Amino acid sequence: MITKKLDTTKENIEIAAQIIRSGGLVAFPTETVYGLGADALNETATGKIYAAKGRPSDNPMIVHISDIKELELLAEEVSSTAKTLMEAFWPGPITFVLKKKENVPSITTGGLNTVAVRMPSDEIARELIKKSKTPIAAPSANLSGKPSPTTAMDVLEDMDGRIDAVIMGEPCLVGIESTVLDLTSDIPVILRPGYITKEDIDKVIEVKTEFDGSLFMKPSNEEFKPKSPGMKYKHYAPKAEFKIITGNIKGISKAIEELKEKAENEGNKVEVLYYGEDSEKAAKTFFADLRRLDRDGVDLIIAASLKPEGLGFSVMNRMMKSAGYDIIYVEEEKDDSIS
Ligand code: TXA
Ligand code: MG
Repeated sequence: MITKKLDTTKENIEIAAQIIRSGGLVAFPTETVYGLGADALNETATGKIYAAKGRPSDNPMIVHISDIKELELLAEEVSSTAKTLMEAFWPGPITFVLKKKENVPSITTGGLNTVAVRMPSDEIARELIKKSKTPIAAPSANLSGKPSPTTAMDVLEDMDGRIDAVIMGEPCLVGIESTVLDLTSDIPVILRPGYITKEDIDKVIEVKTEFDGSLFMKPSNEEFKPKSPGMKYKHYAPKAEFKIITGNIKGISKAIEELKEKAENEGNKVEVLYYGEDSEKAAKTFFADLRRLDRDGVDLIIAASLKPEGLGFSVMNRMMKSAGYDIIYVEEEKDDSIS
């Protein structure tokens, strides 16, 4: 199949919408990461997404809307808490899990009786959904297991020849996938942390949000049973070996230097990812950095961990998966000069 590369003109968005309407696959930009879209209500179309990505078919997709009215097609009940959250954060990088309506094909929701819905803020994404005249199911537009794509070129690296078209938009502003918040029980539960943090959510609703406990466990833990099916798979992995250094801040730089030198002496090409405390920048560039380092043929990536708070926690969630939980803890450095 030849994948059309569509610049972001009005005519091209119309061509892309036509492809969606006729059951094809189009990758498109959103503010978080690029999505791989199909008509959410057409099961043949959404079925093709699993094949194009090589994705396990029990992993449900996020359904994207451009207008709040489309919720009626998808969700059974929308609580007042849900409405408050939608008003506060939509359009934007947060997805809500709601009870699904019958007419959402079970292949779109991986067999679950719930549906994850998001209204993106990206103008191109919303224009595409509007012109397609149907909600668009879209996982991230990467091959399953690879880092999510945050540029059109990253999408092509994985999807050229596998899908009908790519809308060649700008690099994504946020850079990590949306926050996924389960609203199907009384207490909202964060299934996947993202740009919109627990603190942001708790500011606008009365009940306190919780995190899915599995977010704090390694997959090897017996109790690791994430409520979001996608969180259980190996994810975001670069080809290079990837280690994270965490712990005492002074110790980290020294430990990185030592590890780098040792690996280089053994003939490896080594690169260090250091974002300091800039979690916005880390979110924006982390996935792109992994892909760049793979293209450069790096053997070992060493990253300094971010403070696991707010957006830093969301980035660390991705980083730990990417590194397959290969984390080195550095103890407090002893300062011999003070007696
Ligand atoms: O930012 C994003 O969310 C991007 C852009 C394209 O919108 N999409 C994205 O989709 O990251 P994907 O498929 O890569 O991740 C969707 C996550 C998965 O972890 C999946 O298991 C979870 O959302 N999910 C989808 N539907 C669900 C449901 N009904 N219940 C629980 N988790 C659900
Ligand atoms: Mg994904």
